[in-house]
Amino acid sequence: MAASTAARILGIETSCDETAAAVVADGRDILASVVLSQVPVHAFYGGVVPELASREHLRAIVPVVRQALAEAAIALDAVDAIAVTRGPGLAGALLVGLTYAKALALGASKPLLGVHHLEGHLYAVLLEQRHQHLPDPPLPAIALVVSGGHTLLCRVDLDPQHPEQLRVDSWGHTRDDAAGEAFDKVAKLLGLGYPGGPLLDRLAPQGDAEAVSFGRIRLKGNPLDFSFSGLKTAVLRHLETHGMEASVAARRQAVSQLGRAPTLDEWRALCDPPTLDLIASFQAAVVRDLTERALAAVERTFSGTEPPVRSLWVTGGVAANRRLRAELRAAAGRVGLPVYWPALRLCTDNAAMIAAAAYPHFVRQTWSSAGLTAEPQWPLGSANQI
Ligand code: KG4
Ligand code: ZN
Repeated sequence: MAASTAARILGIETSCDETAAAVVADGRDILASVVLSQVPVHAFYGGVVPELASREHLRAIVPVVRQALAEAAIALDAVDAIAVTRGPGLAGALLVGLTYAKALALGASKPLLGVHHLEGHLYAVLLEQRHQHLPDPPLPAIALVVSGGHTLLCRVDLDPQHPEQLRVDSWGHTRDDAAGEAFDKVAKLLGLGYPGGPLLDRLAPQGDAEAVSFGRIRLKGNPLDFSFSGLKTAVLRHLETHGMEASVAARRQAVSQLGRAPTLDEWRALCDPPTLDLIASFQAAVVRDLTERALAAVERTFSGTEPPVRSLWVTGGVAANRRLRAELRAAAGRVGLPVYWPALRLCTDNAAMIAAAAYPHFVRQTWSSAGLTAEPQWPLGSANQI
């Protein structure tokens, strides 16, 4: 399709702590993708503060959208539709993006498309392939969505009635903390920075992953559900019973005296061997749990009545974790499945994935109404009802 006739969708994402806007053509070509992270604002509190997130979105939304349009070198008039994350997410944060998207759509007479945030994370896998002119991953697939807000296992296939669209069946989700949240909370317990995931990933190879035995996470009911809060408590108990509180306090003090975020080498120097062993063992326990449950979902399709899955997808911020990548690749390889990850910029929250997820709705012209509401708790199964 010639560039002039491509459908250009402006995507807007404000469900958590990233203000993002993007322009994507035909659900495949990323013309611009701007992400403004609020990490520096929330780092002081060791987690996302919802009120601060809304305020920062209010400040950032207009410049971020303008920058995306400028980078795509198009005027709002030339956009064919406006897509926005409707949920799930923080209510106040969602409302900023939704209200702005509605106002833009109304003012510029453009159709509006409300998008499910987790569908966005799934479309990021397709977008990665399509943007690079690579073939789509073979379907059906099992997808593991692992971020700071969500941990989800689902089966993904093309919708038989609308083959341009994904059909998603949710098979399991976390009952308490999300995987990324567990990384962040444990990092906080250890006096490390926020967000903790990337730092724990980098520090873990310095420790012995066998040093602390956490045992498997046991759950009653659905074996494809997750629960990480017990592991977090086990880390806390380990700190208390092994006399590690003094070293945590010393680290906190050293960081506050430094007056800036330590470099990786400085963090390493601030962690004694028992701390590094604890980090490595915690990460290994999370990764083992994610890998085993993802593979259990895959194997369920090998023995059931449905067609066996043909690929494994991993997306969301925690998909950047190097140990998770290595273990999933090895485990999927043993059952002959390829694993697909979007690049980091599409793994973490962004608006290109929102524009891509809206494209099938654009094709079918299933527009959202001007009365579209934010859905902070939106279940994935109802994602197609925009
Ligand atoms: O997808 P994302 O940017 O935002 C949410 O939707 O939450 O994910 C952010 C989360 C944070 O909890 C962060 O600690 C975690 O992803 N994360 C990681 C890594 N990189 C980011 N966790 C473990 N290892 C990493 N390398
Ligand atoms: Zn997300």
